Amino acid sequence: MPTKALVLAGGSGTRLRPITHTSAKQLVPLANRPILFYCLDAIAAVGIRDVGIIVGETAPMIKDAVGDGGEFGLDVTYIHQEAPLGLGHCVLIARDYLASDPFIMYLGDNFLVDSLSSFVEEFDTTRPSAQILLKEVEDPRQFGVAIIRDGEVVGLVEKPPDPPSNLALIGVYMFDVAIHEAVRAIRPSARGELEITDAIQWLIEHDHVVRSHVIEGDWIDTGKRQDILAANRIVLDLLRRDLKGTMDPESRVVGRVVVEPGAKLVRSEVRGPAIVGTGTQLIDSFVGPFTSIAGNCRLEDCEIDHSIVLEGSRVTGVKRIADSLIGREATIEPSTDQPRAYRFLVGDHSEIHLP
Ligand code: TTP
Repeated sequence: MPTKALVLAGGSGTRLRPITHTSAKQLVPLANRPILFYCLDAIAAVGIRDVGIIVGETAPMIKDAVGDGGEFGLDVTYIHQEAPLGLGHCVLIARDYLASDPFIMYLGDNFLVDSLSSFVEEFDTTRPSAQILLKEVEDPRQFGVAIIRDGEVVGLVEKPPDPPSNLALIGVYMFDVAIHEAVRAIRPSARGELEITDAIQWLIEHDHVVRSHVIEGDWIDTGKRQDILAANRIVLDLLRRDLKGTMDPESRVVGRVVVEPGAKLVRSEVRGPAIVGTGTQLIDSFVGPFTSIAGNCRLEDCEIDHSIVLEGSRVTGVKRIADSLIGREATIEPSTDQPRAYRFLVGDHSEIHLP
C-alpha cells in the first residue's frame, strides 16, 4: 500500500495565461471548486493521509486554499521548488519527505473521474517499481505514449509523430524507492527539465518492472482554456439539483442546477447543468448549460453558456458569451462614450475572440 502521495502544484502555467499571472492553475475551479481539491479527495479516498505538495511561485495561494489538509482528512507538508525544473525534479526534492516509502504521484492540474482504488490494488499485488496510468486517446501525437509488451511497459516516447499505440500517459503514477535512483541518474532534457518519462525509461533500461493500468473514465490535463472548460462540463454533469439562493417569480431554473446560498436571480433563467455561486446576482440574464459562475459576480442583461466566470466579476449587456474563461474581478460592460468603439484594458497574454 502506498503510504504517501506527492502532489505537484508548482509549475509555470504559461498555457493558461493571463489567469496564471495572478493565480495558480491548480486553483481554477470546476463547478466552483479548485481542480486541486478533486485530486486531494481522490487521494484521501484510497486511505492515504500523508501528502507532500510541491509548490512554486504560487505557494501562498495554494497554502491558503489547502491549509494543513485537515478539511480533506489529510496531513499536508509543503515542499518548495525554487523553479519549475521538471516533474523528475519534484521527486528529487521530495526525497527526504518520501523516505523509502512507495508513493502515488499526482499532477495537481490533472482531472480524473475514476477512483484510484483499482490502480492502488494492482500496484499492491504486483509490486512493480513503477506503475503508470494510461488512457486511450484519439490523437496520441500530443502526449507521452507507452510501448506495451505482454502487459509490461517497454518504452515511453514523448509526442511521437508516428505513435506506437494510442495509450497516452496521464498525470498519475506510483513508484517504489527505485525512482529516487532514477531521478538522480538522469540529466535535464533539451527544454532544461528533469523529465519523469526519462526517469521511467531509466527504470526500464535498468531491469526494473514498470507496469501500466489503462483507465476507462474521463481524464483531462487542464493545461489550457478548452481543457478546463471540458473538465468543468464533466463535473457539472455529475451535479445534483440544489437550490439554496433566492429567485423572484419571473426567474426559472431548469434541470441540474446548483444555486448556492446567498445567490439571487432576478428575471433570469438558469439551464443546467450549471452552478451559481454564493453572493452572485443574475439580473435579466440567461445562464446556459455547462456554465459555472463563481461567488460575488453580477451578470446583468447577459447570455452565457459553456463558460466559467471567476469570483467577483461583472458582466453587463453581452449577448452572447460562450466557451469563455473570465478571470477574477473582471468587468465587461457597455459604454456610452463617443466614438462608439471597443475599449479594452486587457492583461498580458489575454485572448479576445470577436464574432
Ligand atoms: P505542466 O502542465 O507540464 O507544466 P506547467 O505548469 O509549467 O505549465 P505550462 O506548460 O502551461 O507552462 O505541469 C504539470 C503539473 O505539474 C502542474 O500541476 C504543475 C506541476 N509542476 C511542478 O509542480 N513543478 C514543475 O517543475 C513542473 C514542470 C510542473
